[in-house]
Amino acid sequence: MADIESLLKEKRVFKPSPAFARAANWNKKTVSELRRLGDKSPERFWARMAKENVSWFTAPKKTLQWKPPFAKWFVGGKLNVSYNCLDRHLEGENAWRRNKAAIIWEGEPGDTRVLTYGELHREVCRFANVLKDHGVRKGDRVALYMPMIPELAIAVLACTRIGAPHSVVFGGFAAEALRDRINDAGAKLVVTADGGYRKGAPLPLKPAVDQALQGAPGVEKVVVVRRTGGEVTMKADRDVWWHEVMEHASASCPPAKLDAEHPLFILYTSGTTGKPKGILHTTGGYLTHVTTTAKAIFDLKDEDTYWCTADIGWITGHSYVIYGILSNGATSLMYEGTPGHPGPDRWWDIIERWGVTVFYTAPTAIRTFIRQGDEHPKSHDLSSLRLLGTVGEPINPEAWIWYNKVIGGRRCPIVDTWWQTETGGIMITPLPGAVDTKPGSATLPFPGVHADVLDEDGDPVKPPAGGFLVIRKPWPGMLRGIWGDPKRFKEQYWSKYPKTYFAGDGAHRDKQGYFWVMGRVDDVMNISGHRIGTMEVESALVSHSDVAEAAVVGRPDEITGTAVVAFVTPIASVQADGELKGALRSHVARQIGAIARPAEIRFTEALPKTRSGKIMRRLLRDIASGKETAGDTSTLEDYTVLARLRESEEE
Ligand code: WT7
Repeated sequence: MADIESLLKEKRVFKPSPAFARAANWNKKTVSELRRLGDKSPERFWARMAKENVSWFTAPKKTLQWKPPFAKWFVGGKLNVSYNCLDRHLEGENAWRRNKAAIIWEGEPGDTRVLTYGELHREVCRFANVLKDHGVRKGDRVALYMPMIPELAIAVLACTRIGAPHSVVFGGFAAEALRDRINDAGAKLVVTADGGYRKGAPLPLKPAVDQALQGAPGVEKVVVVRRTGGEVTMKADRDVWWHEVMEHASASCPPAKLDAEHPLFILYTSGTTGKPKGILHTTGGYLTHVTTTAKAIFDLKDEDTYWCTADIGWITGHSYVIYGILSNGATSLMYEGTPGHPGPDRWWDIIERWGVTVFYTAPTAIRTFIRQGDEHPKSHDLSSLRLLGTVGEPINPEAWIWYNKVIGGRRCPIVDTWWQTETGGIMITPLPGAVDTKPGSATLPFPGVHADVLDEDGDPVKPPAGGFLVIRKPWPGMLRGIWGDPKRFKEQYWSKYPKTYFAGDGAHRDKQGYFWVMGRVDDVMNISGHRIGTMEVESALVSHSDVAEAAVVGRPDEITGTAVVAFVTPIASVQADGELKGALRSHVARQIGAIARPAEIRFTEALPKTRSGKIMRRLLRDIASGKETAGDTSTLEDYTVLARLRESEEE
């Protein structure tokens, strides 16, 4: 709550500069006209966007078919995502883009590769043919477990070309997490690499695939990119090298004419249970949403060099490194490694060398840079920048102001964009040439998006007031379901309020109706802008043979937003010591990935529970963040547990 208080005292307002507003793709006039249309008829608004921003082989017959909670957008329309991202930039009046950079890639060791639209088109067609040669047909799922290298972009686009839904698994996930995702999606082919570079050293990936596939019998083929040159074992009949199979692949592959609702990809995200949810996105609506928002919010022009620092393993990388950016014919920069290698100024060096104009990153990164000191960005010429963005978690006003001043030189508007894996694209955001910004607020819904804040009874709150963030009307980029689990889809998102999407976030609206998103209201932690379910970490902990019981909560952290704190009851015969803590931390990293590794582990003989046996997380959260527990503890089963937990502080 302290965060909410400090945010709401924020009174500063930043107006778009007249020069920016004049040149913006969407100026004040456009925005007010489109808002009016979107308020009155989201369908008409999105139909217009679909026509203006997306190329269709067959135009849609009906904009929306809505049988809550199941939506079909652009019914009857036929299109292809890779055609929109590539071919259309090589034809007609856009043909000059053939030799324009589509992807500027930089590896962590400093190697670079620039793929023009013409080259990227050729590589995508070739890999699409490789997929077909290896038995992948329309509708088959392909899992991608790769570092941030151009082949990842090529592979996702190749999947879209033939209508094979992809499932990108972030390279930071461990073998078990990879195996579960491969099996849940039923993938039959995996694309990976020997490894990638992180923090100055090669990090192997292929061994995790080998381990995962021991428990994933559905996978028939593995394509391996040689990136680090590290040693790998290739399994005969199953594993092939990317460079070998690409060598003779034809560069001609007509794009499949796909139904607007054809599955485009599955992306796993954490929820309140231990099992990750496969969020399903489809073709026409998703592409309309991300293309339109990228053009309007990032104000993309042909002269821009746009850089989003997200990994393609997350939704931000899908929507705003690849699809929304390339479909606009813009230049997208992709960086393989960590921000701190070889020095804390790597990112600023990249911006200076490539002349990045639009930069999109996460608050957690900004806070890290603030801590490292202004001298690093100040030692670089960042004057090419004209627009900045953030995503992933609420940005505290101090970080916003620093970003504006030190990175943006006080001349760049900041777009604080709220959205989710489930929403597909940006939902609440400033439009940089038209909307006044307030540090810490994502401002207003994008035209055509009917966001609101409701109270427990489902009534809209009267600003200034807070409540639950919802979306009242379907939007084109919305998830179409949870892969293989329609029941969970309904329960998770559509059961709190009738016919209304519940995002799981708390939000406040101020007197001007601006939205201030406050974070999750469920048992999901936001670590460095990534969602990790408390239950997921708990299941990982109790899967260790020395653990009897575990409860996981988040506590506020200056850099990562939230840090994982685990309360663990070991089995009786075990020595609860520092060594076990270390073992449990690595165990979680092995099971899920380093991002979920607890920052702190506290041993306790028992966990505080209500008489009905529910763990009292509210209490644990207070204890973890060092707060006195003021709340009601009348239902606490064992009062002494609480006192002992407080004493169990980390040595
Ligand atoms: C959750 C979604 C969407 C890309 C990255 C994360 C939080 C996201 C903001 C923002 C406040 C934000 C929300 C949301 N979030 N952007 N601008 N201000 N909170 O995707 O892993 O699906 O997480 O991130 O809590 O529900 P994700």
